[in-house]
Amino acid sequence: MEREQWSSTLGFILAGIGSAVGIGNIWRFPYIVGVNGGGAFLIPYLIAVFLFGLPLMVLELAIGRSTGTSVISAFRSIQQRFTAAGLVIVAVAGLVLGYYLVITGWVLAYALSFAFNRPIEFDTFTGSYLPLVFFLLSGVAVYVTVRSGVREGIERLSRYLIPALLVILLFLVAFSLTEPGAFEGIEFYLSPDFSRLTDPAVWIAAFGQAFFSLSVGMGVLLTFGSYLGKEALFRNAGIIAVADMLIAILAGLVIFPLVFTAGLDPAAGVNLAFITLPTAFTQIQYGMLLGALFFLMLFAAALTSAVSMLEVPTAALMDSYGYPRKRATLLVFAAIMLLGLPSALSYTALNLEVLGTPFLDLADYMFGTIGLIVAGLIVSVVGGWFMSRTRICAEIGGCGWQQRAYMALIRYGVPAILLITLIGSFFRVAG
Ligand code: PFF
Repeated sequence: MEREQWSSTLGFILAGIGSAVGIGNIWRFPYIVGVNGGGAFLIPYLIAVFLFGLPLMVLELAIGRSTGTSVISAFRSIQQRFTAAGLVIVAVAGLVLGYYLVITGWVLAYALSFAFNRPIEFDTFTGSYLPLVFFLLSGVAVYVTVRSGVREGIERLSRYLIPALLVILLFLVAFSLTEPGAFEGIEFYLSPDFSRLTDPAVWIAAFGQAFFSLSVGMGVLLTFGSYLGKEALFRNAGIIAVADMLIAILAGLVIFPLVFTAGLDPAAGVNLAFITLPTAFTQIQYGMLLGALFFLMLFAAALTSAVSMLEVPTAALMDSYGYPRKRATLLVFAAIMLLGLPSALSYTALNLEVLGTPFLDLADYMFGTIGLIVAGLIVSVVGGWFMSRTRICAEIGGCGWQQRAYMALIRYGVPAILLITLIGSFFRVAG
């Protein structure tokens, strides 16, 4: 059977934005900026995105398009012994998806609760078994989408949801900026503290956030690249990266003005989206409507990201073992539900913890932080060092000095930065 392709460049870009824009942009980015130097954080973040994240995105797309297949078979075709490395990447994608779907489920529950004018409280909600139901519902939505294929499923979902997300986001920004707390909120969020830039932890946070937010390193873009035609890689990856960053910045412009308007603590860190912000919605005018819109937007963002993650193991099963799409999707869906179960149970009455840390937080650290960096390292080494230079050049428009500079960055710069980020992330847990 012939390999599916995106219906158009725009379709691919929207699917790419769908993957990149997720919980990482709307929930994680704003609070990380808030605690890491405000506006000054944008300097390391811009460097991380454009100097290191973007080249790795392009490399993934190039590997996918050049080999014409998904992660495991692509790595095997580069060299037989890299098959296992491909498996590691597929495993990381599956493990991240497992806990990502738990949070996606929370988001869906919050969206519905505001829509029905019955705001929920975090501890009460997560302490019940309801999160399991919403985890399953989110999983089914992702399953149904991926089962329908690249064009009819993944691309179509993003064609609807990304424009909807943008409309809601712009409306919310406009609303927030006219609230009484707008000025203070923006001041907290963006006023730069340049002294923080001498702290290596700030840089490490920037790199970790950039790689996660761009969906780079987990084989998503490699798999997406295998459905590409002759599109220019740098340009399209650049569009995805810019959109990803703008949406992240705008999300902060929604959140902080509202938090200040309600007189709440803006430095709540990870609690910002699920405790502080929902409290703010219960206190401000039109809060229920705004809350419903905010969490619907977050759900759209999370869903399109989760879909892209499910496609990685699904495509791998199809390409490596010849499974038809429907059967591959069902198998992967079942596996992900099992992998995500400990995370889904971690805040419930069962209170699944490891060494006093909820399993979900541990999964985010082990798979979403460490695992993602290791996977990125594997991609940059296998692609940068073992795929021939001529083959990469053929994908990125020739072998001039720009391409040679690019290769140097991929071979030395990106692995070095990933290693530093990896070491820094280890220390974070120790410290
Ligand atoms: N980029 C997504 C976010 O910011 O929420 C998360 C993500 C999706 C990470 C897909 C990695 C991935 F392969």
